[in-house]
Amino acid sequence: MTNTIIRNLGEGLVLRHSTAEDAEALAKFNREIHGEDEWDARGIADWTLDLASGEGPTVAVGDFTVVEDTQAGEIVSSCCLISQTWAYEGIPFKVGRPELVGTKKAYRRRGLVREQMEILHQWSAARGELVQVITGIPYYYRQFGYEMAIDLDGGRSGFKSHVPKLKDGEEEPYTLRKAAEQDIPFLMAAYEHGCQRSMIHSVWDEQLWLYELSGKRKYNIDRREVFIIVDRDGKQAGFIGIPPIKWGDKSTLTVYELAPGFSWSAVTPSVIRFLWEIGEELAKGQNQHQEKFGFWLGASHPAYEVCTSRLPEISKPYAFYVRVPDLVALLLVISPALENRLLASAFAYYSGEVKLNFYREGLTLGFADGRLEKIEKLGPDSLEKASAVFPDRVFLQLLFGYRSMDELDHAFADCYAKNGETKQLLNVLFPKKHAEVWAIA
Ligand SMILES: CC(C)(COP(=O)(O)OP(=O)(O)OC[C@H]1O[C@@H](n2cnc3c(N)ncnc32)[C@H](O)[C@@H]1OP(=O)(O)O)[C@@H](O)C(=O)NCCC(=O)NCCS
Repeated sequence: MTNTIIRNLGEGLVLRHSTAEDAEALAKFNREIHGEDEWDARGIADWTLDLASGEGPTVAVGDFTVVEDTQAGEIVSSCCLISQTWAYEGIPFKVGRPELVGTKKAYRRRGLVREQMEILHQWSAARGELVQVITGIPYYYRQFGYEMAIDLDGGRSGFKSHVPKLKDGEEEPYTLRKAAEQDIPFLMAAYEHGCQRSMIHSVWDEQLWLYELSGKRKYNIDRREVFIIVDRDGKQAGFIGIPPIKWGDKSTLTVYELAPGFSWSAVTPSVIRFLWEIGEELAKGQNQHQEKFGFWLGASHPAYEVCTSRLPEISKPYAFYVRVPDLVALLLVISPALENRLLASAFAYYSGEVKLNFYREGLTLGFADGRLEKIEKLGPDSLEKASAVFPDRVFLQLLFGYRSMDELDHAFADCYAKNGETKQLLNVLFPKKHAEVWAIA
């Protein structure tokens, strides 16, 4: 990239693309801005180096925006865009994930992130990304067109007394070993099998798996140490993913899948024992104590059900921020999923129109014999004819299965369907559904 400058912001500030030479300075900048403690800071620095160096498959050199104070000769604000693919009921769509958003204290509240978000949104649109997602601080990203609309994290934890013990002389039925490149076909199959539980999932191809297993720096906060679960015959039963840095007093797994044919209740006690052991090792390495173990697998997971009494502490999920700049374009892509939902319901072969009023604009969904044949914007003059109303971006909560029509109706006095049939139809088209997304980073 010869000319890296995007905009001159005045007062000596320049907004530009990052270069490979910025990687170390960005790592230092991000560890200072985002690192909550020594280990967290190390994890942030390794993550930044992995991304800013362009060595990985998700971010190219130049995919960070940098605001430089040319007089002080330093980076004062920065963000990046991580491109990836997610799927809605199995239908892939492109996603852009702005991350590592930060501004030095002395330069805050001057619109530096607003400027950069505008640029990241332009890049994302140019890459054909229909949705942007962010894992971010509360409220802030609403200002850039985002709605909190997909579950993020959340989990269950237990203490040492909840770790199941083997009986005297009993041999461990399942053991775990580090995953290697030759395990990738198994990992891909087990992961995809697990994704059937989730309405939305991220698409992990071979290159991403390889990057996860061997491409990332050791302490990258977004890396998962992947372990294969093996039965007594040496057969692969499943896998787990553990962050490289212990989260405070807790050792945590954030991914856990089994291959078809294996039992959650048979395997999970072995997984808990292993997680506790690994936690002890990590605690020693980090000079910390281990108090708890955690399954950080979202709002619901089969492992919670088979080990409920071993995971007494419940942490509810936070949320992904979601932005959909062109709803028509996204609905066109996912329309087969909506048609399938209709077909499986009392509204099979439905013909008619659903007009959605978002108060400032709206949308018509036109069905003929159960086919979604028309998706059009609704002009301001037609908004009053709408069959359901949604303030601001609340409709995204329905679209991504985060909240049901009933819940939205309850939470927002200005959100409702105009009659019972429309409400039923919206419940069918956009049901509340579990989502558990392992975002790519
Ligand atoms: C949050 C942070 C990134 C904001 O950076 P910034 O350069 O000050 O942001 P901007 O000035 O572009 O903010 C855009 C708007 O949000 C407002 N704003 C800034 N910080 C805010 C905050 N913490 N909460 C809510 N609004 C905020 C600004 O006033 C501005 O409003 P306006 O456009 O109506 O004038 C910065 O405070 C920071 O680095 N914090 C520590 C790290 C962090 O939390 N990063 C986010 C991780 S997800």
